[in-house]
Amino acid sequence: MEPIYLDHAATTPIHSDVQAKMTDVMQHHFGNPSSIHRYGRDGRKLLDESRTTAAKALNAPFSSIIFTSGGTEANNLAIFGTAHAYRAQGNHIITTTIEHHAVLHPCEQLEAAGFEVTYLPVDQSGQVRVQDVQAALRDDTILVTIMAVNNETGVVQPIQEISDVLTDHQAVFHTDAVQMFGVMPIDVTELGVDLLTASSHKIYGPKGVGLLYKRDDIHLEQQLLGGEQERKWRPGTENTLAIAGFNQAIQTLQANREKRHEHYQALQDRLILELEKQGIEFSVNGDLTQRVPNIINLSFPKTEVEMFLTNLDLAGIAVSSGSACTAGSIDPSHVLKAMYGEKDARLTNSIRFSFGIDNTEDDMQIVAEKIKPIIERLEKVVT
Ligand SMILES: Cc1ncc(COP(=O)(O)O)c(C=O)c1O
Repeated sequence: MEPIYLDHAATTPIHSDVQAKMTDVMQHHFGNPSSIHRYGRDGRKLLDESRTTAAKALNAPFSSIIFTSGGTEANNLAIFGTAHAYRAQGNHIITTTIEHHAVLHPCEQLEAAGFEVTYLPVDQSGQVRVQDVQAALRDDTILVTIMAVNNETGVVQPIQEISDVLTDHQAVFHTDAVQMFGVMPIDVTELGVDLLTASSHKIYGPKGVGLLYKRDDIHLEQQLLGGEQERKWRPGTENTLAIAGFNQAIQTLQANREKRHEHYQALQDRLILELEKQGIEFSVNGDLTQRVPNIINLSFPKTEVEMFLTNLDLAGIAVSSGSACTAGSIDPSHVLKAMYGEKDARLTNSIRFSFGIDNTEDDMQIVAEKIKPIIERLEKVVT
């Protein structure tokens, strides 16, 4: 049996369109976009085309796109950049307990540097409450950073409603939309955000490239010093190869977004159906309606995640616990902890399935059939 990859929220393979584009760039377009000669102009053209594509995909102006080395760097630039640029106006930052570490760790570092950070809780739905944002807002709040879609549960956060609350407030509003970009259409004006993060390797593009949308009137303190690239927001010779791949991944995504969305939903529905058919006991972590179709986090009582993942891997199924793996052991997920509390069994028996364009509905049947005996075995060990 061919292995079945169900960990697309971690990363996706590179799409064949993207491979073709990158091969062409590698062979024929190596110029440094800052050079005056024809090779440089050629590199500049690639860059401009990519910026146009990214801007269009977000319904944003050309000048608002800053290419970065990925989602992590874009989040760091947004958070440190805003906090330091607006410090004269306040010292308070609002975020949530379920953010990716590329948001949480910068916030923790700012806290250590003297900023005050409010970490908003979530309930069992995995969603942040708009009234909690309202209640946490202070006159000296300078930054609100809340993710658009949670990477472990797939739960969609009420970004537009939060932006309504912030309308007349000075706070800059950043959203980490890494897990939203590939599945939901994004219009930064409709969403009402000032800063937005996206990453290429979650949408069938290459790793090591992403972007920060920055509304033109928002100021950031530079985090890197060097040349004039990306209007100085992100100096360093542009990674034109990866950016061109990202460009192609966005174009292919835009042309297929609805089809992909339907496909992911069909896979998710089929997986649930097949698990039920097998009589497997499970529950869904997080809200059942406010979610993207390509990520589902399931708890399997009487199992233990590390053994479960290893057994699934041996059976040819690649999934993840959704949380970090440190030194070979899996830390309990901070997202599930925020939803259920420290002691809940779901922290140690939950698995994230994330679907991709190459998965088939038949795969879902195979997955459920393979899970059944594994769970039966694990039940004997764990209980
Ligand atoms: C929600 C979220 N934010 C940020 C990142 C980091 O993006 P990158 O891997 O491009 O640095 C990820 C990747 O796992 C993510 O899921």
